[in-house]
Amino acid sequence: MEGFWRSSLRFQEMKMIWLMVMVLGLLSPRGIECRKGRVLQDSFDYLALSCRAHSASITDFGGVGDGKTLNTKAFKDAINQLSQYSYNGGAQLFVPAGQWLTGTFNLTSHFTLYLHKDAVLLASQDINGWPVIDPLPSYGHGRDTAGGRYISLIFGTNLTDVVITGDNGTIDGQGDLWWQQFHRKKLKYTRPYLIEIMHSDNIQISNLTLVNSPAWNVHPVYSSNILIQGITIIAPITSPNTDGINPDSCTNTRIEDIYIVSGDDCVAVKSGWDEYGIQYGMPTKQLIIRRLTCISPYSAAIALGSEMSGGIQDVRAEDITAIHTESGVRIKTAVGRGGYVKDIYVRGMTMHTMKWVFWMTGNYGSHADNHYDPNALPVIQGVNYRDVVAENVTMAARLEGISGDPFTGICISNVTIGLAKKAKKVPWTCADVQGITSGVVPPPCGLLPDQGPERVGICDFPANNLAIDAVELQRCSYTNYS
Ligand SMILES: *[C@@H]1O[C@H](CO)[C@@H](O)[C@H](O)[C@H]1NC(C)=O
Ligand SMILES: *[C@@H]1O[C@H](CO)[C@@H](O)[C@H](O)[C@H]1NC(C)=O
Ligand SMILES: *[C@@H]1O[C@H](CO)[C@@H](O)[C@H](O)[C@H]1NC(C)=O
Ligand SMILES: *[C@@H]1O[C@H](CO)[C@@H](O)[C@H](O)[C@H]1NC(C)=O
Ligand SMILES: *[C@@H]1O[C@H](CO)[C@@H](O)[C@H](O)[C@H]1NC(C)=O
Ligand SMILES: *[C@@H]1O[C@H](CO)[C@@H](O)[C@H](O)[C@H]1NC(C)=O
Repeated sequence: MEGFWRSSLRFQEMKMIWLMVMVLGLLSPRGIECRKGRVLQDSFDYLALSCRAHSASITDFGGVGDGKTLNTKAFKDAINQLSQYSYNGGAQLFVPAGQWLTGTFNLTSHFTLYLHKDAVLLASQDINGWPVIDPLPSYGHGRDTAGGRYISLIFGTNLTDVVITGDNGTIDGQGDLWWQQFHRKKLKYTRPYLIEIMHSDNIQISNLTLVNSPAWNVHPVYSSNILIQGITIIAPITSPNTDGINPDSCTNTRIEDIYIVSGDDCVAVKSGWDEYGIQYGMPTKQLIIRRLTCISPYSAAIALGSEMSGGIQDVRAEDITAIHTESGVRIKTAVGRGGYVKDIYVRGMTMHTMKWVFWMTGNYGSHADNHYDPNALPVIQGVNYRDVVAENVTMAARLEGISGDPFTGICISNVTIGLAKKAKKVPWTCADVQGITSGVVPPPCGLLPDQGPERVGICDFPANNLAIDAVELQRCSYTNYS
């Protein structure tokens, strides 16, 4: 295939050419004469879990970045072609500057998708052109409708070693049509996400901007060893269910340096829904969230639940900034969920203009169907918040456990909450919760007795590292000739 010659070049030769170019100091991005009369079009470095021996550009497969031409076939052909290298050095697919209208496509293993800083993937708005897949087994149903769900724009399942990155290139879900259809109850199936990776291992999603997703933005599910870094997510604050990043039944995940403005939770940690999630039984655990900035007036910076029936354990959130957001780190659950939320650690939150700093509820409702088990009570245990400063807050906390199933081991320390002029008269309301506090202003409710100001460091935050923190990125390069 024309333009595909470089794939047959041995990796070492490519590296040598690259070195020659560097040594000659000819590193300007465009129009450099090279050996064999080829012209260097694009070259750059980036950091990734692993580098690839083979490269191609979407233009090699007939892609046209004019914002009008549908590129679904180009992406499918490219990834189909490059999948032959999955177990032979891996491949990277470059998307140059341009507007690339496309429908959904599936990823492959040992593969990198790289978006140029001025590349925009535009999701097709042809709803009937989107394939429908089964509901998630741990949910039993779609979230919008009982049936199946439209596959996400970028989808991968049963993969290993996948990188989706770029120099802050953009994926635009063009969600407004989907939101309208959702509000009018015209959708037959659950809306698609922008990126969903299922049953996979070693995933990196980094240095991208995601805008106007039809629903959730990034959904790793039944997966492990996931790095999500340097992502900007923007959607209208009134858009329905435009959650930012939703780790769902995932182990060993690190989410950092994230900026989100959205219509739903910025990060929502999940693990399946009611009896389906209980049966699937796959928790989310060993999760790090750090340096997250969130603006979400009707939702939370971080939500645990509401689907948590497979359990959520060992979540470490640090350096969280929430502005004009409903609540900080909230727990949402219900009778019938089963499962657990335990060993939650939050340290260092700065907040401005909040409805609630702390919010937990055991009465969230929102069931998959009517077959949930009324005896399946969630266990909420060991929730630690420390070093929090908040201003312009309507209510410090609303903590509501479940009658006969209290939320226990709640620890809140070193917290200063400045109430708004129009704040509620009673800043704390608590029911069916047990725990302790120290150094908290305004003084908390009686169910969380104050241990005295000298115990201000009382709430835990683990000192050990998780395995995902030890992951080191490699410097990879891409060089494109034409
Ligand atoms: C993508 O993967 C899904 C789920 O495995 C599958 O249903 C669909 O057919 C795949 N699409 C293509 C184009 O291979
Ligand atoms: C993907 O992995 C899951 C879990 O291991 C397995 O149940 C499923 O059959 C696999 N799907 C494919 C298409 O290999
Ligand atoms: C990426 O682009 C978004 C949208 O233009 C911008 O807000 C953000 O600051 C950029 N991020 C970086 C790291 O340049
Ligand atoms: C990618 O994001 C990381 C983390 O935010 C940042 O350190 C790095 O400079 C970014 N790289 C590029 C090429 O933008
Ligand atoms: C304080 O919060 C209220 C909403 O509760 C908002 O209208 C007002 O603008 C905020 N004030 C400041 C100084 O941010
Ligand atoms: C209390 O929290 C602030 C940040 O909000 C932090 O600077 C300070 O060190 C903390 N104090 C203790 C004793 O941990």
